[in-house]
Amino acid sequence: MKTYFLLPLLALLAMPASAAKMTMPSDAPKSYEAECASCHMAYPPGLLGQKNWQNIMSGLDKHFGTDASIDAKTESEISQWLLKNAATKQKYSAFAPENRITKAPWFIRKHDEVRSDVWKRAGVKSPANCSACHADATKGNFDEDSIRIPAK
Ligand code: HEC
Ligand code: HEC
Repeated sequence: MKTYFLLPLLALLAMPASAAKMTMPSDAPKSYEAECASCHMAYPPGLLGQKNWQNIMSGLDKHFGTDASIDAKTESEISQWLLKNAATKQKYSAFAPENRITKAPWFIRKHDEVRSDVWKRAGVKSPANCSACHADATKGNFDEDSIRIPAK
């Protein structure tokens, strides 16, 4: 009987205390990969708060200098899923300027040791290109152990 009560507690303790995992939920609609991962990686929803996702999804025709618009049904499917899985912790859900993960205060703080020329290397191109340095970014794993910074 005792172990029965202990198990959930142990599961909690085994979870990493760091915020390095923003796991990609397993119930991502197929449309997310199809519509939101052709120009950049499919960002795990936990990287932005609800208001930012709402803004992004309602402005896809003017999306960071490109037209990323999709049909209304798909838009609503993706929106609902993003909002359901958006960041909840204050630190990550706080409004990110320009709706950019890369402008969020936590992002800037976590990357303050990355020199400005590193962001411009051909192998990186942009701070938004998470997977250039985080080998497991598409799974939502940003752990230190899986960081490989391209040499050029
Ligand atoms: C036609 C290409 C294209 C498609 C399709 C597209 N995006 Fe983007 N997206 C961009 C570009 C370009 C940027 C800016 C990248 C940069 O600054 O390096 C961007 C940036 C972003 C950012 C901000 C990244 C940062 O700087 O933190 C988010 C979030 C984002 N897109 C979400 C989405 C979602 C959600 C979808 C699907 C509904 C989508 N994108 C579809 C081209 C696209
Ligand atoms: C130029 C390479 C590079 C790019 C591109 C990059 N990162 Fe990082 N990231 C780093 C480095 C270096 C660290 C710092 C590791 C440390 O200080 O231990 C870091 C740390 C992090 C951390 C904290 C990890 C921890 O263990 O606390 C998160 C979360 C993170 N990055 C998310 C992202 C996301 C999301 C993107 C894309 C929007 C991104 N990063 C793009 C290099 C990069």
